Amino acid sequence: MSAQAFLENRFGLGGSVFLVTGGAGGIGFAAARAAAQAGARVAVNDLDADRAEQAAASLRDDGLEAMAVPFSVTEPAAVRAGVAAVLDRWGRVDSLFSNAGNQIRKPFLDYRTEEWASLWQTHVDGAFNLCQAVLPSMVERRSGRIVLMASVAAFGARGTISPYATAKGGLAAMTRALAVEYGPLGISCNAIAPGFVATGFTVAMQENAAFQSYIESDVPARRWGTPDDIAGVAVFLAGPASGFINGQVIPVDGGLLATL
Ligand SMILES: NC(=O)c1ccc[n+]([C@@H]2O[C@H](COP(=O)([O-])OP(=O)(O)OC[C@H]3O[C@@H](n4cnc5c(N)ncnc54)[C@H](O)[C@@H]3O)[C@@H](O)[C@H]2O)c1
Repeated sequence: MSAQAFLENRFGLGGSVFLVTGGAGGIGFAAARAAAQAGARVAVNDLDADRAEQAAASLRDDGLEAMAVPFSVTEPAAVRAGVAAVLDRWGRVDSLFSNAGNQIRKPFLDYRTEEWASLWQTHVDGAFNLCQAVLPSMVERRSGRIVLMASVAAFGARGTISPYATAKGGLAAMTRALAVEYGPLGISCNAIAPGFVATGFTVAMQENAAFQSYIESDVPARRWGTPDDIAGVAVFLAGPASGFINGQVIPVDGGLLATL
């Protein structure tokens, strides 16, 4: 077997359909591009319809197969309609990368109830809505991959992100719950737990000199992660080579969680 055939067999997504939420920028867009380059037809969701359309169009401009499915992951009816549009167009969703997320940083006592709820609704309810929408057709085909977006915040905390850390911990538990329930039906559920990745999400930290020196002194890789550092793992978890991995929350953090 040639090296290219081996790579396509074990790591390729040829013929499959990959749906990513929050796919208009940052990690989600890098994953959309990587999945499409690995051979998948990619459905790009985002809350922002124009940015979702632009993201899908830019993949198509590069000769890749992509459609936009704008909706808020927090709206169950809109999520169901978006997933139905993908099923109508391509007949299947092989892999879901539930990646959409938001952040509000402040001390615990300063959070208003609505802010706490907004974090939970986007991260946890969003994943719930997406999984409920894609699982019936995966169960029917006895095949599917679900990849949730956790964070190193599921394992360790910093100040000022208490609802985010709580939500990501919830997603880690949900990963195991779905793996146990749907593993017997041929469906896996894993999560990625990134460390600090340079995206729009972390601009305030990237501009903070003290935080920059923390990255350079305390992260073993001595650098920020890039969206591509995470995208490759999402493609791996959607592909054949990861077929026996289930229920795992996989840190991709430049060694951060290994430090004392
Ligand atoms: N950047 C990091 O350091 C880091 C670290 C760990 C985990 N994460 C997680 O990675 C994911 C992606 O973050 P990113 O860094 O690429 O940030 P990002 O801000 O570039 O991407 C988040 C995307 O989600 C979309 N989104 C937000 N709410 C939505 C909703 N209700 N419905 C649909 N789309 C919605 C946004 O429009 C945006 O395009 C998030 O879940 C985040 O928690 C990021």
